[in-house]
Amino acid sequence: MVKIAVLGCGRIGVMHARNIANHPRASLATVFDIYQPAADKVAAELGVKTSKSIEEILANPEVDAILIATSTNTHADILEMAVAAGKPILCEKPIDLSLERVNACYEKIRHSSVPIMLGFVRRFDPGHRATRDAVRRGDVGELHQVVITSRDPAMAPDAYIRVSGGIFRDMTIHDFDMARFMLGEEPTEVFATGSRLVNPALMNELQDYDTVLVTLTTASGKQCVITNSRQAVYGYDQRVEALGTLGLASSQNRKNHEATLHTQAFTERSEPYQNFFIERYSEAFAAEISEFVDAIEHKRAPEVGFADGRLALMLAEAALKSAQTGRVVHMSEMG
Ligand SMILES: NC(=O)c1ccc[n+]([C@@H]2O[C@H](COP(=O)([O-])OP(=O)(O)OC[C@H]3O[C@@H](n4cnc5c(N)ncnc54)[C@H](O)[C@@H]3O)[C@@H](O)[C@H]2O)c1
Repeated sequence: MVKIAVLGCGRIGVMHARNIANHPRASLATVFDIYQPAADKVAAELGVKTSKSIEEILANPEVDAILIATSTNTHADILEMAVAAGKPILCEKPIDLSLERVNACYEKIRHSSVPIMLGFVRRFDPGHRATRDAVRRGDVGELHQVVITSRDPAMAPDAYIRVSGGIFRDMTIHDFDMARFMLGEEPTEVFATGSRLVNPALMNELQDYDTVLVTLTTASGKQCVITNSRQAVYGYDQRVEALGTLGLASSQNRKNHEATLHTQAFTERSEPYQNFFIERYSEAFAAEISEFVDAIEHKRAPEVGFADGRLALMLAEAALKSAQTGRVVHMSEMG
């Protein structure tokens, strides 16, 4: 059993704590949140003790590894502390909103062999992964284009958007990682456009966007198009397709079941898409924990790590620069 402590018992921390508690090869060691009632609630539900501080958790020999699900602005500090303490880390995305801070963190941890996994959960979605595997096996021939659609059902609360770091760093970051996962090559050019269509007043105030299109191109000419919207009234829209010389592989939206209803008035009426990320990616979140546990048990690097988090953030910065300047940004400009 790998004994994992969960730091941060908010929206996603609670879900991770439950997944760890239910995992056959992991157990929940303890939980911690600076807001004690949040920690108390999940500790009572899952029958574990809370800890009083991050320092207490890192000094606890009963804790094999930690999962960082605190607010984004704390991730890099906690990562550095955990690496110094030698505890393997599963860190929620993003590492930080600032590339400078991520680079500084990298300088501190680069010589350590402590496993660090980044929470790019969509890599573990069975449909997305099967699409990637089909591409890698050559089932679609030589890959030419990837199309990623990622739309939220509704705009997040204003308070969240204000501290999100902007759509590219907050939302598209998952798609930048998915693009790298699918393409198997690093994008070298980024072109992005952003619009303020869902909540123009807030977006203007923050100089952020709620509707974006991004085009990524690799050195060999492979293309990826990402479409994001903060609001798709029909539900959480998550699709990936990969076009190659021999065909197309694609991963589709998920519903609770596939039954359809046909009447005189309509055909193929079916369930709505699964509501949001906790439901849509439930299997992926469980598989993510399995990958973390497996990497620790076999003393190997997790499949998705710090470098992936840094590269996705670099693509986000490049996309923002492109949207702001209206020109193609070459990744060589990003350092
Ligand atoms: N992988 C995904 O799909 C995904 C989805 C949602 C959120 N996230 C990421 O997960 C992180 C948490 O998001 P959330 O939606 O759960 O936020 P949240 O605000 O619901 O929860 C964050 C929790 O962290 C606690 N916290 C803050 N600073 C702390 C500290 N120093 N020590 C201990 N606890 C602290 C807060 O009190 C809060 O309970 C964010 O970085 C976010 O980007 C990832």
